[in-house]
Amino acid sequence: MLIKKPSDMSPSEITDKELYLNRREFIAKTAIAIGGAAVSGIKITTDANAGQKLNVTKRGHFAEGEKETPFKHAANYNNFYEFSTNKEDVAELSRNFRTRPWTVSVEGHVKKPRVYDIDEIIKAFPLEERIYRFRCVEAWSMVLPWVGFPLGDFIKICEPLSNAKYVEFTTLYNPKQMPGQQRNVLEWPYVEGLRIDEALNPLTILALGMYGEVLPNQNGAPLRLVVPWKYGFKNIKSIVKIRFVEDMPISSWMKASHQEYGFYANVNPSVPHPRWSQSEERRLGEFLKIKTLMFNGYAEQAADMYKGMDLRKYF
Ligand code: MTE
Repeated sequence: MLIKKPSDMSPSEITDKELYLNRREFIAKTAIAIGGAAVSGIKITTDANAGQKLNVTKRGHFAEGEKETPFKHAANYNNFYEFSTNKEDVAELSRNFRTRPWTVSVEGHVKKPRVYDIDEIIKAFPLEERIYRFRCVEAWSMVLPWVGFPLGDFIKICEPLSNAKYVEFTTLYNPKQMPGQQRNVLEWPYVEGLRIDEALNPLTILALGMYGEVLPNQNGAPLRLVVPWKYGFKNIKSIVKIRFVEDMPISSWMKASHQEYGFYANVNPSVPHPRWSQSEERRLGEFLKIKTLMFNGYAEQAADMYKGMDLRKYF
């Protein structure tokens, strides 16, 4: 993105999952032991929801024949500028991020505008595991088992009006909890958008978990978007607002650098980004590069939405 060239992590920089979870437990115990602010003046908290198992009712493999990226990579190499522009620091800096109480406000051109409690949303939909390819514009990628439900199912209960042509998503703004927001690296809060047909596409999901557990904070807890045929930056994290609008939303990345980041951001190996080739990618934790697939391998489900569009112009 707007920062240094991505480098692969050396194994010593990667915490394996057991170590990572043990560290959480250690911190939690320490917090109890020191009794928070009373003793040390430092308040240590942990997110009670992290690591919780999710009840998945349906599973789908959408990256047939490919092996999952280990959890330790997906959870320790993150783009989440609200915490840091350094991918290796996000997990640590977001550890105390509070994801409860949490509400998601539905606004704009809908019959049923409403503020939902996150737990109400979670209970309302059967949870599915979907193994998707996920590709960042910086040419690293993963194969990841998300847990969530189709965004389209949520949109149906909101009952959009006929002038709802786009859906705009907004991340929480809270510079105290999200220290990266104290810096002007992007215009805050983080905003992303989809055309309504993209939002309703059966592949588009709202995710609240990965690897069978509640999302780690660094991966966008408690609720994030996953659109597998688009570059990683479209997949907005820690959503607090979903607004149905008539005009194309201007995303944070479009505002930061519109020549580099378009609204569509469809994975397209034939349209290079000014700073990264999009023709190849490297899976996190692997050495060899592989060819990037058109629409990230989801052309069958996604290509029709862009028929007749010049994808060099609408990148
Ligand atoms: N959402 C918010 N709110 N803030 C961000 O900085 N980064 C995006 C996307 N969603 C980002 C965000 C980018 S650039 C990528 S590649 C993915 O999140 C990374 O998701 P991951 O950390 O789960 O791999």
